[in-house]
Amino acid sequence: MKLGFYVNGLPVTVDTPPLRSLLSILREDLGLTGTKEGCGEGECGACAVHLEGELVKSCMVPAFQLSGRSVVTIEGISAQGPTGLQDAFLQEGAVQCGFCTPGFVMASEYLLRNDPAPNEEAIRKGLAGNLCRCTGYGSLLRGVQRAVAEGYTPRNFPPLSGEPFPEDSEMSRKSLEEEGIFLPRTLEEALKILETHGEDVLSVAGGTDILPDMVKGVRKTPRKVMNLRGLAELEKLEYQEESGALEIGAGVTFARIREHSLGARHLPALREMAAGVGAVAIQNMATLGGNLMTASAAGDAAPLLLALEGEAVFVSSRGERVVPMEDLYRGYRKTARQPSELLLKVRIPSRVFGSSQKFFKVGTRKALTISRLSLGCSVIEKAPGIFSRVRIGIGSVTPCPMLLPRASELLENRHLSMEYVKEAAALLARDVVPRKDTAYRQEMIRNLICRFFAELLEKRVVQS
Ligand code: FES
Ligand code: FES
Repeated sequence: MKLGFYVNGLPVTVDTPPLRSLLSILREDLGLTGTKEGCGEGECGACAVHLEGELVKSCMVPAFQLSGRSVVTIEGISAQGPTGLQDAFLQEGAVQCGFCTPGFVMASEYLLRNDPAPNEEAIRKGLAGNLCRCTGYGSLLRGVQRAVAEGYTPRNFPPLSGEPFPEDSEMSRKSLEEEGIFLPRTLEEALKILETHGEDVLSVAGGTDILPDMVKGVRKTPRKVMNLRGLAELEKLEYQEESGALEIGAGVTFARIREHSLGARHLPALREMAAGVGAVAIQNMATLGGNLMTASAAGDAAPLLLALEGEAVFVSSRGERVVPMEDLYRGYRKTARQPSELLLKVRIPSRVFGSSQKFFKVGTRKALTISRLSLGCSVIEKAPGIFSRVRIGIGSVTPCPMLLPRASELLENRHLSMEYVKEAAALLARDVVPRKDTAYRQEMIRNLICRFFAELLEKRVVQS
């Protein structure tokens, strides 16, 4: 496909296969080799760039999502020579082989642009998506701290020059469609495409899975792909009086969910979950709809949405259809979506706002980990030590996320002691049959349920 977009303020045009990564285009077509390829699958951060001002991993961005957009690379950041941040890295010994440095610079620039005086925890979070095999992370942390102490402020992005790229013409759209690439401008157009091409089309919004899966060889190049990014109806995030629910569009990124004010006030576990989906660059790209509809057993959103009594709203040319979260999954990688439907949004009803809620994620490391077990819990405290609406969702251990079926029967509407909770948690854990490491995972489930209720019951003791 012919593709026009901006790199470091300048318009560029390339002819490229639509499923090629931005990283390859930068390095191979444009000769911008400052952006490095480490893992090629979203783990290392060496390929970080800014896309429309957001930190992203360029190995995950497919060409067909780039039209007319603006990319800033390390060459753009240091066009006038090394920045104060790069000097600070050098002085703190944060550069040895230097392979990871462009990625760390891009992540630090993004951090400082959004938070000019970050504390240590914020710096660690901001750099959590980047790996360095030489320096250790202390010197990188000190590098950012030194830059802040010396009053470093990120330079403005280069202004875009030249005429804006014209919208893709009908003709170029038609010829792309012949190649199996669909770029709808409205939800209506997207639904028509699904009506005709149904099962054959892979719909992509954030796209954080598609290129890495192709690199790893776990996904063949799809024959037909439809871009969903930019469809306004999928990107709404608001409280709806009419439905009495927070409605999160399927195309809303985890970064937006993490920052939403309702999360801070009423849905702390939702915020916690969103903040734990990969690191910042992934949260800027990955969408709620993608996380749910890839139907990975290890997806983070589903266990919590099960606990928060979520509902999935599908749409097709025939109208909307509501599916409670507990009916969304039909087996390994299978969902209730019909081929002609799109996931439009997810609703979280206001009756769970302010519930006692928690999201637990157990993995092999803190940042960017794939869950080995995740647990979403939500309860309403009716009276001291007595709870209603007890819901516990679980992910990563069974072929698809599930709600613990007996949680309400065993834990609702009775005065809970820790002794009783331990017994009930053991029974609940035994209802889950993990695909492997059965005893270990059942023990983890039991422990996390106990931990959730211990915090609630202890809080009660402290308050009284
Ligand atoms: Fe490692 Fe992109 S090359 S995250
Ligand atoms: Fe060598 Fe970071 S300096 S990988």
